[in-house]
Amino acid sequence: MSASPGPRFGYHGRPRQAREGESLLASLARRGWPYLVRSIRYHRPRGPYCGTGDCTGCLVRVNGRPNVRACRYVPREGDRVVSENSWPGPRFDLFGALDPLLPRGIDTLRGLRRPAFAAGLYQRVVRRLAGFGRASPSSFRLRTPEPRTVEAPCVIVGAGRSGRAVAAGLVREGLRPLLVERRRGALAVAGADLLGGVTATFLPPPSAPPTGFSLLAFSEEGGGYVLRTPSVVVATGGYDAPLLFEGSDRPGVLSGDLALSVPELPVERAVLVGGSARALELLQRLGPKVCAIVAPSEIHPQLVARAIELGLPLYPRSRLVRAHGRARVRSVVLAPRGDGGRFTVPCDAVVLAHRRLPNAQLGFQAGATRRWRGEPGAYYPVLGGDGRTSVPGLWSVGSAARPGGDDEQRVAATVAGILGREPVAAPAAVEEPDITPLLGYYRELLAERRHGKWVLCPCEDVLLTEVEEAVRRGYRGLEVIKRYTGVGTGLCQGRLCLPDTVLVLAAIEARAPSSVGTITQRPPLVPTPLGALAGLRDEFADEVVP
Ligand code: FES
Repeated sequence: MSASPGPRFGYHGRPRQAREGESLLASLARRGWPYLVRSIRYHRPRGPYCGTGDCTGCLVRVNGRPNVRACRYVPREGDRVVSENSWPGPRFDLFGALDPLLPRGIDTLRGLRRPAFAAGLYQRVVRRLAGFGRASPSSFRLRTPEPRTVEAPCVIVGAGRSGRAVAAGLVREGLRPLLVERRRGALAVAGADLLGGVTATFLPPPSAPPTGFSLLAFSEEGGGYVLRTPSVVVATGGYDAPLLFEGSDRPGVLSGDLALSVPELPVERAVLVGGSARALELLQRLGPKVCAIVAPSEIHPQLVARAIELGLPLYPRSRLVRAHGRARVRSVVLAPRGDGGRFTVPCDAVVLAHRRLPNAQLGFQAGATRRWRGEPGAYYPVLGGDGRTSVPGLWSVGSAARPGGDDEQRVAATVAGILGREPVAAPAAVEEPDITPLLGYYRELLAERRHGKWVLCPCEDVLLTEVEEAVRRGYRGLEVIKRYTGVGTGLCQGRLCLPDTVLVLAAIEARAPSSVGTITQRPPLVPTPLGALAGLRDEFADEVVP
């Protein structure tokens, strides 16, 4: 991103100027904390959390088009940007005055069914009360450009280190692969094509060679591509997982990914959560903005050494109990694990970098077999030695494939596998103990007396107490709990809430996280404009329309 002046746009009628190539969120954040949305059931102000296009914390209306993700949208000259469905604004929404009357929100899953003749009225009221964008006649007329079909011998989704290494290996072998990257400004690989600023999802149903795969890739601005290929490499990397505590949905609680992607985020005193290499990376980048380091377990010696150099207090083996502050985090309450009194640390942000999870959903959407790994507590694809998944033609590399990513040898094996050379046998399976270090943390947390709202699923505003109640009523397993409570059914498709929900269920039911189950990853994997799907009507009539 350059510092040269970019397009001018209006935010609630006030003129703003972006820098060339910067996201709408980065541009708004330079003028103060970006309050863009409020929560759908409890009218709580929400802030951007993920910075990767997966949460609901930055949805805005641009030129009448609802639910544009500000962290992925690059403003254009003359854009009109407003926040949605809150009055007078997301920071303080007057509908919140109804919350004392409805302390558990409106039950849209099980309530509002009778009398049947009133269903239409209920729907209108609930839609108005909910905070997601309202489709207006003008937005129906918005055109999404027709997707362009692109054919490639191999599509690599993710242009991080491993994705680019596979691309370079294929180029050396005479192929011209296509790299697809959700970030903008990704580095190109000489001899490979690059589509930047787009997300990709398989068009249902993914079909293996010889028919090949079809993916729909589209940008936040609305342009789309249909990608046809015999091989897909999932190199989508990882993401920083949330952590459950009271107030974990408050503006100011954000992921390490967001902290790195919005350089001028207005943060002055951040509590950094994490004790490993990822937290060290964040500390190096945020430097004086960090005021303390908290870790659920031990803190790596290198991070300790750096924190001592900077004179930062360290709180290893500590629990984050609560974030104070309604419209912005003002302080956090910490407690040592085991026994020990609580204490408060003043801050204006909490940066979560304690648990890096694989962004492996694209492979699971295609039906790749998965297996649970206790550390970091997530499902990974089952792979051959060359990165092949259980779906022919589908490969996985980097930190979406295994904790810690790939070495050169593995990348070379993946390239050879894509070229159809002798498959490399999977390394002998190492028996891994089914131990998830964070599970003990959650057991301690759940055993305590709790106050306030603990939001387990921020997209749908599902509370921890609702999941506990579902278990008390006899519902078991993640898929059933999802259907009963709505956890995992929001825009993030469970990326943000399900990792914690698995641990919560394992702790409540006193069983291993691997036995809690998982959900079916259904398309579309990422929020997809209806216009992009409508543009497919002719070409994919047999696949999309049964
Ligand atoms: S911050 Fe934009 S989607 Fe999460």
